[in-house]
Amino acid sequence: MKRIAVLTSGGDAPGMNAAIRAVVRTGIHKGWAVFGVQQGFAGLLAAKFVPLGARDVGGIMQRGGTMLGSARCKEFKTEEGRAEAVRNLRTQQIDGLVCIGGNGTQTGSNALALRGFPVVGVASTIDNDLFGSDITIGVDTALNIALEAIDRLKVTASSHQRAFLVEVMGRNCGYLALMAALAGGAEAVVVPERETDPAALAKELEDAYRREKPHALIVVAEGAKYNADELMKYFKENRARLGFDLRVTTLGHVQRGGTPTAFDRVLATRLGAAATDCLAQGKFGVLVGLHRDGIKTIPLAEVVAKHKILDPHLFELERILAM
Ligand code: F6P
Repeated sequence: MKRIAVLTSGGDAPGMNAAIRAVVRTGIHKGWAVFGVQQGFAGLLAAKFVPLGARDVGGIMQRGGTMLGSARCKEFKTEEGRAEAVRNLRTQQIDGLVCIGGNGTQTGSNALALRGFPVVGVASTIDNDLFGSDITIGVDTALNIALEAIDRLKVTASSHQRAFLVEVMGRNCGYLALMAALAGGAEAVVVPERETDPAALAKELEDAYRREKPHALIVVAEGAKYNADELMKYFKENRARLGFDLRVTTLGHVQRGGTPTAFDRVLATRLGAAATDCLAQGKFGVLVGLHRDGIKTIPLAEVVAKHKILDPHLFELERILAM
């Protein structure tokens, strides 16, 4: 391996910069030339390669987002797009590619691997919905941002004895919502993985008041059938009968733009370094992720074919602790 490239794709995640830095510096340490691809797979199609030295990745670790830029690229989902991407990599004489991102990114990585290109994926998405890594880069930061908001909302909710709803990101996965509910001491959590009856939810809030709780807080995942909009609609329609309002805060992209936590920086650093180790060992078509017994690789084909499951015990625990 003489020349490698690195890209970030899909939704940016806090810690991506630390992963880029680790890929660049461990690559240089191995004696390779390292190139950054700007704007993810879109940049691969537009042949946007920039040489990266050790100094180019200085001072980026503490910054959220990605210094390489990211994109969601429709053309790359086509056969022609993918063929063009491989052509561009070959023209630049790139021997190996590191793709930092979540599900969409690793689907793209797998497509390149199937075309015979040496590629290694690095698990990074705030959603934590990627099979092949217990936790992905960006989750810890996003969760802490959600928690800060929840803690603040609880203060004002308690002062006024009000009911609040906080919607968090996560696409079709309820991980962020469940963890935020557990760590934030919410009264209820709504996720895509479980059915929700809005009437039962309203009753849970009423019961919380009856138990003399000073607040009632629901954490809702954006991908749930009853997301913030739908629940708001229900509570408005039934306002007279329920006798209380529900105030809504949607956190949205605020969760994605934070300063990476120590955990995310260390995780990203370890995964970035592991990715160049894989390239050095000729281990291609894999994702590097964190597992309880350390950093491990999983074939990309398995990553894209499988789904991560939320621990059902944590739902029960959340219910019990909301007493
Ligand atoms: O995958 C990360 C994520 O932030 C999801 O939680 C969210 O649904 C999506 O990206 C939003 O995508 P975009 O930034 O393209 O609107």
